[in-house]
Parts: sequence; C-alpha cells; structure tokens
Amino acid sequence: MASRNKFFQKSFVSIDQIKSAKQVSALFKEADKMRKNVESHKVFEPLKGMSVAVLFYQPSTRTFTSFVAAAKRLGAYVTSIHGMEQFSSVSKGETLEDTIRSIEQTTAADVIVIRHPDNNSSEVADSACSVPVVNAGSGKLEHPTQALLDLYTIYNKLKKTSGLNVVMVGDLLYGRTIKSLAKVLALVGGKKNKITFVSPKELAAPSDFVKELRKKVVLGEENSLSTKVLKEADVVYMTRVQKEWFEQAGRMDEYERLKDKFIMTRHMATQMKKKAIVMHPLPRVGEILREVDEDHRATYFEQMRSGLYVRMALLNMIIGG
Ligand code: NCD
Repeated sequence: MASRNKFFQKSFVSIDQIKSAKQVSALFKEADKMRKNVESHKVFEPLKGMSVAVLFYQPSTRTFTSFVAAAKRLGAYVTSIHGMEQFSSVSKGETLEDTIRSIEQTTAADVIVIRHPDNNSSEVADSACSVPVVNAGSGKLEHPTQALLDLYTIYNKLKKTSGLNVVMVGDLLYGRTIKSLAKVLALVGGKKNKITFVSPKELAAPSDFVKELRKKVVLGEENSLSTKVLKEADVVYMTRVQKEWFEQAGRMDEYERLKDKFIMTRHMATQMKKKAIVMHPLPRVGEILREVDEDHRATYFEQMRSGLYVRMALLNMIIGG
C-alpha cells in the first residue's frame, strides 16, 4: 500500500508540526488539484459519509466560510457553529474539554476545526477528543492554515518560496498570522528568505519569537514603511491592529493612537517592484486604502480563494487519506 501522507489522521494545531518543504509541496499539489476541480465545477466528494465539525469562538468571515465550504465541497456532513462563546453551553460555564467531547459525540465528527481566543486552545481540544483537531486560529500565536494559504498564494504569484524578501507590517505583537507565516517561510527558505518586520515599537513582535526566528531566516526590523523598504520587497504583508486585545486590556486610547500608523496607499504600492505583491489576511480596517485595489500588486482577494483550496486539500489529506 502506498504510504499515507504526513497529515493523515493527525491533528494540525501548530505550523511547527510541518517539518519539511516536501510536506508543504505535497499539500500544494493537492491544493492545485482542488483548484482545478473547483474551477471546472467538478463534483469530487471523497469525504462523503464523513463528518466535519467547525467550531468558532471568535469572529471570522473568511476562515469560517472557507472551512465550511471546503468540507461541503468534499461531500462531508458539516456541523458548523459560529459564536460558540455566546450560543453554546460555554455561556453556562462548560469547559472547552467538555464541549469538544460533546461535539465529538453529538456529531460523530471525524475531524474538528476550532478557532478560539486562548493560545493553547487547539492543544486542549486535541487532548479532549479522539479525532484530529485543526487549528483555525488560536489566541495571539498561531494560525497555521492561514500561513499555508499565504505561502500558497506567494508560490502561485511569484513562482517561488525562497529567495524572497517578505515585509510584514502592523500589529506583530498580537497578530497571529504573521507568526505562523514567518515560521513556514523559515522552514521552506531558511536564510535564503528575508523577513522585514515593520511596526511601531509598541507592536513589535515578542522578543523570544524574534530571537528564535533570527536563527532561521535573515531578519530585518524597521519602524517605517519607507520607500527603501517598499522597493526591496517581494511581498508586503499588511495586518490590522488587533483592537480586541486592546479592548480586553482596557487600552483603547493606545489602540486609537496606533491604529493608523501604517497605511498602504496606491502611491506606495507603485513604489514596489512591478512583480511584487501586497497581501493582507483581512479584515482590513483602514490599513490598505481602497485605491490600492486597482493596482495589479493587490493580491488580498486572490489570497482568500487560496484558503478554500488549501483547506480542501488539508481536510482531504487528514481524513480522506
Ligand atoms: C486573521 C485572524 O483571525 O487572525 N483573520 C483571518 O483569519 N483571515 C487576521 C485578523 O483578524 O486581523
């Protein structure tokens, strides 16, 4: 029997679980297949008879809908709940472990997808049930499927995953997407990849994270999105200042002061290389002006569609085999 793919029947809670560029290529190959199927409206339902539960404890537009759409397109039975924190027994005080155990039972889930504000929520969920768990965003640290769809987008647009200068801008302290993306860029390109962090000092990436990353990639840190930084970039990855964490900490005055520090304008985009791209995990709340949408470098809409293909690929590799 052909050997199973590395994701088969395994939880995917952290980007650190991906150990080789080969594993990423295998996933991208599968995502390409999914793209072809979707584009040709082909009915392809390898997960028929399987059950997928999608549980979100934090707001989401893209990640939620693309996971649900991915599971449905692959033919699975899907139970999807948005607003878990409000509408499930969590509001009565149920623990995450008990909720996960319950959902596994009530839906006969073969895989559980979870988004949750706690950093270790996916690990907790994983230890509470006997089926694979997929992390759809946990706390301030991890968003592994976003990292894969981001890299898949970069690969499709620039035709390479190493020899890149990726400029990450905005809230590098609370933002989770940049942390997972930085790690996967380090894995696939090592020191051939440069990552340039641009943030106000209050929103700089955590120092332990920076220290680890510096061992694996070439790392630059800037406090302004200058012409020089723009000119040298292959990718400018903008992010939103994460209002919810400021709200929680009662620091809304600081949020107001920081939220508009870095704004991508059309003029700035045109200073980038012709082939460079502007990305954003979205939602944007002012950090990329609408006028940038007209520039051919704007890739954030395409980036969303990558989410459907990559999540289809991942679910199929985990429970389809
Ligand atoms: C991101 C997230 O939830 O971390 N959104 C997403 O999944 N595309 C980014 C954000 O909310 O700013």
